[in-house]
Amino acid sequence: MSLTPHNFDYIRSLLHERTGNLLDDCKEYLIVQRLDPLLRREAVGTIDELITKLRTTPVCGLHDAVAQALLTHETSFFRDPHYFEQIRKNVIPRIIKLRRGQKSLRIWCAACSSGQEPLSIAMLLREHFSMQLRSWTVHLCASDFSPQIIQRARRGQYTDMEINRGLPPELKRQYFVRDGAHWQTDVRLQEMVEFREINLVHPVLELPRMDLILLRNVLIYMDQEPRQKILSTIRNLLNPGGYLVLGGPETTHKLDASGSFRRIEFGCMSCLQIQ
Ligand SMILES: C[S@@+](CC[C@H](N)C(=O)[O-])C[C@H]1O[C@@H](n2cnc3c(N)ncnc32)[C@H](O)[C@@H]1O
Repeated sequence: MSLTPHNFDYIRSLLHERTGNLLDDCKEYLIVQRLDPLLRREAVGTIDELITKLRTTPVCGLHDAVAQALLTHETSFFRDPHYFEQIRKNVIPRIIKLRRGQKSLRIWCAACSSGQEPLSIAMLLREHFSMQLRSWTVHLCASDFSPQIIQRARRGQYTDMEINRGLPPELKRQYFVRDGAHWQTDVRLQEMVEFREINLVHPVLELPRMDLILLRNVLIYMDQEPRQKILSTIRNLLNPGGYLVLGGPETTHKLDASGSFRRIEFGCMSCLQIQ
């Protein structure tokens, strides 16, 4: 099954408008593969028919479902372990020192996919900071554009392959139990994370200011304009002295014209603070 150039451009613009994500010219196969389940759901025979339906219906859930199907949700527990080591060794201790007057710690994983990233943070907090944070209010929020992936994250169920990617065996034993074909996350971790649907390209005004924001491996799929928009939203949601952590290949280079952020290096992880 292939797409006419006209229809390819339509899907590309739909994805960009709704999520800021880009699709390369060579990604036609990806559209065909990822939209296939939607054809059945919508009872249409071809992608061209699906696109006709999209073009002729006012913007609705179907448009979002198409955008959702095209996003990349690649993630794993403790992805880039050296980041979690630096968050444990440097970032959290500094925030604790800074916020010991208020005894409040707020963390946001801003594109959390199926939840492995916030659960890794939850395990890190429980394993290393339980004593220090005993009388603190800790708020760990995790969000994604995709309602489907957020539902999955809320269920807290992982396959053998997912559970064995990055999760140390002792943490697996402690926080996950086998439940049929899945591994179920322990309620102690699940209760720590508030999962929400948030589209980063629309201003996220209802969130409180955060001490740590993880925005990893999402800007890389976007172009300049949505990246700039998201970073300026994030800037307003970060507490002075708080940290923004991007993914390894991501940078604010050329996106931070007003010099809102300064770079801080911890070992081989760099993160950002507001000026
Ligand atoms: C590659 S995953 C990264 C997950 C995790 N942060 C990590 O590093 O392992 C990117 C996630 O960003 C989400 N995403 C893409 N565009 C988004 C947007 N405009 N708003 C919110 N989430 C978005 C996708 O749904 C996907 O789950």
